[in-house]
Amino acid sequence: MTEVATRIEEESNMGTYAVTGSASGMGAASAAVLKGEGHTVIGVDLRDADVVADLGTADGRRAAVEEILAISGGRLDGVAAIAGVGPNMPDAAAVLSINYFGPVALLEGLRPALERADAGRAVVIGSNSATTVPLIDEDTVNLALAGDEEAARKRANAAQAEMPAEFAELAPPSISAYASSKFALARWLRRTAVLPEWARRGILLNAIAPGAVLTPLMLGSTGDAAEQDVDEFPTPMPLGEFGRPEDIAYWVHQFLRPEARFTTGAVLYVDGGTDAAMRPDAQPTPMTF
Ligand code: NAI
Repeated sequence: MTEVATRIEEESNMGTYAVTGSASGMGAASAAVLKGEGHTVIGVDLRDADVVADLGTADGRRAAVEEILAISGGRLDGVAAIAGVGPNMPDAAAVLSINYFGPVALLEGLRPALERADAGRAVVIGSNSATTVPLIDEDTVNLALAGDEEAARKRANAAQAEMPAEFAELAPPSISAYASSKFALARWLRRTAVLPEWARRGILLNAIAPGAVLTPLMLGSTGDAAEQDVDEFPTPMPLGEFGRPEDIAYWVHQFLRPEARFTTGAVLYVDGGTDAAMRPDAQPTPMTF
């Protein structure tokens, strides 16, 4: 093959990907992997991004979708919805808006652009908190899944206020809203990935559930990286180490590859074994009549 033909073939393999949360942590690491391969990355974040938008508000989400569509020409090979906040943010309603309604609106808004690609891929970042924090508020989850943001926000605040005092004293201020937002996201993902407008259009939609990963988000609540002792961490860490942003970026990249076929609706735990250690028998669950 001539040099030019090789280059054309390589360039034709290059895709266009939207990555939210691109300014920090897992999003920055994922964008770096894609850029390193020569792909075009449209970064979305509150700052230092191609598209600067607040995904915690309906207006911000709308503007982000419009801008991404304009930059990409309406065709995307993949979307990585990574932006999010942790349980340390004091405003429980905002946590729900950013962590649940943000990725859902973005992915639904960009679905038509993914359909225009040959092998559209979407990946979203949940959390193992969805299954390892015993503070899921079912009403918040159900209101979120019903798409009622206003009611879900109200309920998230109320659930936080109702938290048992023994938890409230020790736990981060929005722990219930955080875990509930990530639980709802995983449930939305499994329900949505199999719908014909995704599955039969060749768009694969999967989630990663990270555990403790050394990013500014985690260190904002736990303190300096050097001070972290894996054996003193409140949840078990079987692999004996914390995750790095690159550990998550690796799997984000795998899910976005066109060669990744035949998996959709999956929630992959990338958490050093925490969920397996805490709930060894939770999967598989037998089907019942
Ligand atoms: P990070 O703080 O390093 O990066 C998150 C990025 O999202 C930041 O650049 C931030 O500006 C952006 N962002 C936050 N709110 C936004 C908004 N309203 N609109 C647009 N962008 C916004 O944090 P990290 O750890 O890389 O977090 C990535 C994802 O991983 C989040 O969804 C987080 O909930 C999730 N996660 C993190 C874990 C950890 O231990 N670090 C564990 C489990 C889940």
